[in-house]
Amino acid sequence: MQQFAGSEEKWQEWLSKANLSDVSVYVDTPTDLQAKQLLLTAAKLSHLSLNQFLRNFGMFVAPRLISQFSHYIDKTWDVLDFLEHTEEYIHKEVRNQIRGANPPTLRVSRLDKDNVMIRYSSSLKMCHFAEGLVESAATFYKQKVLITQPKCMLNGNAECEILVTRV
Ligand code: HEM
Repeated sequence: MQQFAGSEEKWQEWLSKANLSDVSVYVDTPTDLQAKQLLLTAAKLSHLSLNQFLRNFGMFVAPRLISQFSHYIDKTWDVLDFLEHTEEYIHKEVRNQIRGANPPTLRVSRLDKDNVMIRYSSSLKMCHFAEGLVESAATFYKQKVLITQPKCMLNGNAECEILVTRV
């Protein structure tokens, strides 16, 4: 998120306006409350809705995550294979390797060759971040996808269903 801020000045502004300047965000894993505070503040200072900010953040971060974890990504995968295997190959490794990191458990089903369903739930309710990740991953793989959410926590459902269709 510090990289996404784009400058040290803006990052420090986000932290201070979110009342997090005194918190060691570099050492300790932020609590969900702190993370929400920071995201809401950064969205407001960027003059964006939280959903749009999260989508932009997901789009920014996807190619960086893909190159950082390229060892765990099979070179023969296309974007839907990548999404299908994110939980078992990537989020699992993130939990093992990065102290304090706790990515959400995704339940992914490959419905058919052109459709993947990603079921997601988290108290952070960051499905728009997930949508940004998917959109940007598709661009990375030079493929086009349609993303819909038949169910969404933001509409009162217990989990989000993110349906990704190759078009
Ligand atoms: C190379 C691929 C990926 C890597 C390396 C990765 C890694 C991570 C990491 C490090 C976090 C932060 C966790 C924390 O600090 O506690 C995270 C969070 C998250 N990831 Fe992934 N991720 C990847 C792909 C995906 C994909 C494809 C999705 C869904 C479509 C996804 C959904 C999420 C969401 C929604 C969060 C936010 C935290 C929350 O909602 O609780 N990730 N991921």
